[in-house]
Amino acid sequence: MSARVAVEVEDLTRHYGSFVAVDGISFDIAEGETFALLGPNGAGKSTTIEILEGYRDRTSGRVAVLGVDPEHGHLDWKARLGIVLQSSGESGLVTVREQLSHFAGYYPNPRDVDEVIAAIGLQGREKVQIRRLSGGQRRRVDVGLGIIGNPALLFLDEPTTGFDPEARRQFWELIRSLKAEGTSILLTTHYLDEAAQLADRAGVIAGGRIVALGGIDEIGGAAARVPIVRWKDAAGTVHEERTDAPGVRVAALIAEYGELDALEVVRPSLEDVYLDLIAEHEREESTAELRA
Ligand SMILES: Nc1ncnc2c1ncn2[C@@H]1O[C@H](COP(=O)(O)OP(=O)(O)O)[C@@H](O)[C@H]1O
Ligand SMILES: [Mg+2]
Repeated sequence: MSARVAVEVEDLTRHYGSFVAVDGISFDIAEGETFALLGPNGAGKSTTIEILEGYRDRTSGRVAVLGVDPEHGHLDWKARLGIVLQSSGESGLVTVREQLSHFAGYYPNPRDVDEVIAAIGLQGREKVQIRRLSGGQRRRVDVGLGIIGNPALLFLDEPTTGFDPEARRQFWELIRSLKAEGTSILLTTHYLDEAAQLADRAGVIAGGRIVALGGIDEIGGAAARVPIVRWKDAAGTVHEERTDAPGVRVAALIAEYGELDALEVVRPSLEDVYLDLIAEHEREESTAELRA
């Protein structure tokens, strides 16, 4: 296996009894890459991540995380991972600083505790007991615990749920700086703008299967990304046209009608593309059910 690959997943499945939660997925994450796993609730994201973290067994398939099969990962392997689970069970009688210092002690090469407190935006709150923090602040402690060990690979399962917009921007800055240091990152999020901001590549998962995989600007294919020219005519009717040459179309419209109301060129966002992919998946599922 190439040393330049942080995560390799090949034909991974996970059954819970007769239910197939992960149904033969494959993807790679290159070293230093940020990869977003996107999909609706129940798609299989957390199951996949927890298999990679060594927290869950798989049913079949091949997995390598930093070159190691997570089912056989030892402490030195675990020390190279940073983990932010979807939900943390910390009740939090200790303070922010105590908790971070305590966890720093588990790692051979931890980050400076004050640096981490600053990075997660909790300066001034470090002496507060975790149970007294707001939900969003507690989540930032989770993120702090995920990075305290200076991980080569960071798993973030819905890290910013409950963040206010400012906290989310701060978090993005933190992730960008980790990325600049060469950290490989696997992220799940329901905020598609967050994925678009942070990820190099994404996989869209639905019903345990990957329905799209690719660069963040390419996923869904070129046809899904054709710009839309939108305007309102004199009667107030809204018009929309999809065209690869929006500038030409706008120029022609203005030449014909002069200045137009509410004229805009809209490029489909990752969220638009994602919603189309999920809708298409759901249509296929219901057709398959009708046939069965
Ligand atoms: N321990 C479990 N036992 C039975 N079913 C489970 C278990 N954990 C997850 N599932 C089911 O597997 C599917 C995928 O769950 P999960 O990986 O948590 O999805 P996601 O993180 O994408 O929301 C869901 O239908 C969920 O109910
Ligand atoms: Mg989940």
